[in-house]
Amino acid sequence: MSQTVLVTGGAGFIGSNFIHYWLKNHPEDTVINLDALTYAGNPASLQDIAGLPNYVFVEGNITDGELVNKIMDDVDVVVHFAAESHVDRSILEPSIFLTTNVIGTQVLLDAALKNHVKRFHHISTDEVFGSLELNSSEKFTLKTPYDPRSPYSASKAGSDHLVRAYGETYGLPFTLTNCSNNYGEFQFPEKLFGLAITNVLEGKKVPVYGDGLNVRDWLYVQDHCSAIEKVLLNGREGATYLVGGLVGDISNIDVVKLILKLMDRDDSQIEFVKDRAGHDRRYAIDWSHLNQELGWSPSVTLEEGLQKTIDWYTQNEAWWRPLKASAQAFFAQNYKPATEAHS
Ligand code: NAD
Ligand code: TYD
Repeated sequence: MSQTVLVTGGAGFIGSNFIHYWLKNHPEDTVINLDALTYAGNPASLQDIAGLPNYVFVEGNITDGELVNKIMDDVDVVVHFAAESHVDRSILEPSIFLTTNVIGTQVLLDAALKNHVKRFHHISTDEVFGSLELNSSEKFTLKTPYDPRSPYSASKAGSDHLVRAYGETYGLPFTLTNCSNNYGEFQFPEKLFGLAITNVLEGKKVPVYGDGLNVRDWLYVQDHCSAIEKVLLNGREGATYLVGGLVGDISNIDVVKLILKLMDRDDSQIEFVKDRAGHDRRYAIDWSHLNQELGWSPSVTLEEGLQKTIDWYTQNEAWWRPLKASAQAFFAQNYKPATEAHS
């Protein structure tokens, strides 16, 4: 049976990949993409599908209750990606993170209830669980308590609590995924992988924060899309699923060295810079329940996913060069030499 799927934030990194994925695998469905086109939203990421009869783009803000209500009439499923998503920007300017991530989510939840949507799927992050110790075998599980430590993760934690509260209080049919760091095609070149690869392509150094020993769990964006699909099709109403891409740890410095190796560069391209304030040390996700319950597992290794990502950025300079140029003021504000204090 065909459905109408409302995707919020579909002009961003993961949302645009998801829309491509969904329309390819569910061509009978209609996708409405509601996106405010902030600095992170890019219609160029959806150029190839813009003319499809079952794809509708609406430029608008998720905090606009009237608009959101109007759009949600006749929507079966909401997949909510729209957010301010970059930790470093949240440190420089927290308030927009609260407005979009918390208030925006609440506006969507109200409209979803009012319009009786069949499923509200909320996309969240493993960063809500805080930071694990380096060199421990501990991982985030469904039992890990929330302990957000950046304005970004605090705002996402707030949105997660609201989604569950609407489920408990008003019976909203929801599912929720907390996933690890995504990488892949169409990522704004400000997060580690997009920045590192494009810096190498531009002949610039790759900035590594602090001692480079921080650990993230890396998830290829296509694998994230397939996990969301599994949850939408077969996930239990009211359930949370954790999505991660790796089994073992890899430090930032080793990830950057791997990128440099795959791009035929040596480690002299690395530049250690001033650490991020409150920099979470280690994230690691136990996604075994998603594998056991819904049969999901990542389709690529980190090296395979990275090679695909490097190839894509190499072939799509026209996509990322203007974005990098537009972010120069942010880069100047964010990046300081290793010895200099943040101002
Ligand atoms: P992104 O920053 O690339 O894209 C966000 C999109 O949301 C943009 O298109 C932007 O224009 C839109 N948007 C922002 N504010 C809006 C508003 N008020 N109204 C309507 N649209 C608005 O983000 P992303 O990396 O694609 O992340 C998508 C979701 O996944 C977010 O909820 C994020 O918290 C979550 N997430 C991301 C990662 C990651 O590694 N990128 C990891 C875990 C979870
Ligand atoms: P990022 O891609 O910003 O994702 P998040 O902060 O959501 O995990 O950063 C990933 C890791 O890489 C994180 O430990 C910070 C580090 N990092 C750098 O070392 N240099 C950089 O230029 C950036 C953007 C991040």
